[in-house]
Amino acid sequence: MAALKIENIYKKFGSVEVLKGISLDVASGEFLVLVGPSGCGKSTLLNLIAGLETVSAGSIMIGDRVVNDISPKDRDIAMVFQSYALYPNMNIRKNLSFGLETRKMPKAQIQEIVQKVSTLLQIQNLLDRKPSELSGGQRQRVAMGRALARNPKVFLFDEPLSNLDAKLRVEMRTEIKRLHQRINTTIVYVTHDQIEAMTMADRIAIMKDGIVQQFDTPENVYDNPSNRFVAGFIGSPSMNFMPAKVGIDAGQAFLIMDTGNGRSHKLTVPREISPLAPWNDREVIFGIRPEQITEDTKRSRETGKNNIINCEVQVVEPTGPDTLVFIQLNGVEVTCRVHPAAARRPGETMALQVDMSKAIFFHPETGERI
Ligand SMILES: Nc1ncnc2c1ncn2[C@@H]1O[C@H](COP(=O)(O)OP(=O)(O)O)[C@@H](O)[C@H]1O
Ligand SMILES: [Mg+2]
Repeated sequence: MAALKIENIYKKFGSVEVLKGISLDVASGEFLVLVGPSGCGKSTLLNLIAGLETVSAGSIMIGDRVVNDISPKDRDIAMVFQSYALYPNMNIRKNLSFGLETRKMPKAQIQEIVQKVSTLLQIQNLLDRKPSELSGGQRQRVAMGRALARNPKVFLFDEPLSNLDAKLRVEMRTEIKRLHQRINTTIVYVTHDQIEAMTMADRIAIMKDGIVQQFDTPENVYDNPSNRFVAGFIGSPSMNFMPAKVGIDAGQAFLIMDTGNGRSHKLTVPREISPLAPWNDREVIFGIRPEQITEDTKRSRETGKNNIINCEVQVVEPTGPDTLVFIQLNGVEVTCRVHPAAARRPGETMALQVDMSKAIFFHPETGERI
């Protein structure tokens, strides 16, 4: 395994600039997830690391070697794609060993590697089958096995799970993570799925339009998003955003919330987190996650976080462990996450407690975090 250093990478296709100055430092053995909407440049960046494309500017280092001018096969990387690209006419054993044979590795050593890799991925009993005789999940495992067999310094994955059904995707997610914990290879994993990113990554790089918006741990991108794009992209259901007028009274900031039917309510912003001093009498974008607006309980009042609002319930969606309740705040639909037993019916008024210690504020024009 090896560290990976990406420095100020630009990539143009003709006159179109697809990557606009990407820098990422991946530690040896780290699991990096590149996530972002379709077309933001994830695969392009991965292909540059693999050497399948050449950079327009910037440098890529694997270990202590600049690899810009090194051919893909000499970069010590292995790549797993969405389409598994297995050899259809070869059985699984041959699929695993073929790459090693072309590199003239001694037979006994190849046998040992095939044994080890197939045990690790639990495909020992599939070795004599053809790819067409395997399920999607099994093929995916073989594709990973083939990559593993090469003992790469860096492992690259491009949306490897997107062809699998939902249940299998969740299982393979855990399996890849477990695999990483065992072999500890440096991994760069591309996905457009923020849940995959959150659950698998040591660190996440969130991309948009060829620019990294934030490069941080899953916890930090969730709790401390650097801008509105990141805040909205990570988390499901999404963070709520609403325009809100700021007031300041004796140094204490509050937000004025229209809770419907001509009523309004002041939400107090805790002094410890308040960046709002310069915003008195101005509008900001107030961001709050669904789980931070929950049913009012006696306990929540006793702990002194009594930012309680009374709102009319519009729609109710049970998810099982908790129930989503939709209300209107400042003219915007807002999702709240409550205990199933606490949810009121549509049309009823519900008392909701807003945990303002986790509130986040964004600049109304730039979308940057205030
Ligand atoms: N070989 C290419 N020639 C021209 N444009 C390309 C090429 N490869 C990718 N692009 C463009 O670059 C942008 C980023 O593509 P890609 O890296 O595949 O995005 P992602 O993997 O995030 O969905 C897209 O607008 C795509 O059309
Ligand atoms: Mg892609």
